[in-house]
Amino acid sequence: MQWKCWYNTDAMNLARQIEQYIPRQLLELVRDISGQAAKQGQRVYLVGGVVRDLLLGDPSLRSGPRFDLDLVVEGDAVKLAQQVAETSQAKLLAHHRFGTAKLRYDNFTLDLATARKETYAKPGALPTVTPGTLKDDLVRRDFSINAMAISLALNDYGKLVDPYQGKNDLEHRRIRILHPESFSDDATRILRAVRYEQRLCFELEAQTVELLKRDIPMLDTISGDRIRHELELILKEKRPEFVIKRLAGLGVLPRISPSLKGNGWIAEKFDRARRLKKPAQLPSLYFCLLIYSFSERGIEQFLARFNISAKLSRAMRDTLRLKTKLSLLDKSSLKPSEIYYLLREYEPVAIQANAIASEPSMAHRHLQLFLTKLRYVRTPLDGEELKRLGISAGPEMGKVLQVLHKAKLDGEVRTKADEKKLALSLAPKLKWQGR
Ligand code: CTP
Repeated sequence: MQWKCWYNTDAMNLARQIEQYIPRQLLELVRDISGQAAKQGQRVYLVGGVVRDLLLGDPSLRSGPRFDLDLVVEGDAVKLAQQVAETSQAKLLAHHRFGTAKLRYDNFTLDLATARKETYAKPGALPTVTPGTLKDDLVRRDFSINAMAISLALNDYGKLVDPYQGKNDLEHRRIRILHPESFSDDATRILRAVRYEQRLCFELEAQTVELLKRDIPMLDTISGDRIRHELELILKEKRPEFVIKRLAGLGVLPRISPSLKGNGWIAEKFDRARRLKKPAQLPSLYFCLLIYSFSERGIEQFLARFNISAKLSRAMRDTLRLKTKLSLLDKSSLKPSEIYYLLREYEPVAIQANAIASEPSMAHRHLQLFLTKLRYVRTPLDGEELKRLGISAGPEMGKVLQVLHKAKLDGEVRTKADEKKLALSLAPKLKWQGR
């Protein structure tokens, strides 16, 4: 991958890049916030991923349709955000305890945080937060490339603040933690390190790899929700299989779940999934493929440990349940209606996962047939029309609708007239059966 890198220029001022890449409306707002802060003797900085991506010359790396910016305030971020919310259309969400506030606009989000120091009482615990300087705020961060800031103050607008050589690490394309306890303080950084490494085609710096491996057991100190969130972020990457493979190579994957695999099978199936599905639908499909080789016990442990949502749990369980039933679909003699009634109880994403995971076979073809055609088949006759034909609402009508649907699936009726004829022929029989 080729990046157009600004860091090769001598300039330590990124005003031009800011103007070029940040949407005008958002930039005006950010400048206005900085102006309001200045009146109170406070300074505001752009921080985190956006600084990294501006230096890389490609803020389109910012994932998702919304443009989100992180701002650090040397001062009181919550108070500042409250002032801004009063004079703009923003929705405000403040966390007084952490000194942070979120301002939500239609097309973007601003996260304001009071510059802070963090200490961890024990590994994996939430940090204890006290106000600090910008430098304190940067050193508490995950990697040097994410620990840079850009000043938004009028007197040095655009100036890069880089106390931990993040720019140098960008130049050398490496991911480096800022202190030896970084991974044990917050082991989600193990997953984040590999995600950035693979996204940017960088490499983990040698000592960072050592410490990462040392601290793999610290993943056990992290709540299921936080690990799941990181897994979701991985599965939103353009090529999540690279991240999964690397996590496997580093020995991280078994610590998350002993049955997870990062092999060529996953890579091939993820690639196929991408060719079939829109990006928004991919993460749940990837999850179903990830657990394809799990046992029933393994999946239950996984769902419980990572507090997976009810909908996704259903899809993942259905994936494995359907896998054990594929032999029923592996018969050429099956009628379309039989395929439909075998598959209709499963979540579509579970059927899709099985279609991707299964090798070319009759079962595979039947899964595809269901996904592309059978599940959309409807009969044009509805309840009202059946009533007009003299069929009364209730079980009788239910049966007629089912027979019509089956006939439609099997191509036995084609037109509305065919359906009416079939419905009328059925009505007396049903009455007779009901007696
Ligand atoms: N951060 C951190 N440790 C974490 C999570 C986040 O230090 N466990 C810091 C990093 O400085 C990071 C910033 O918070 O840059 C914002 O985090 P996030 O929004 O998750 O990532 P971005 O850097 O914006 O990167 P991207 O959205 O491109 O993944």
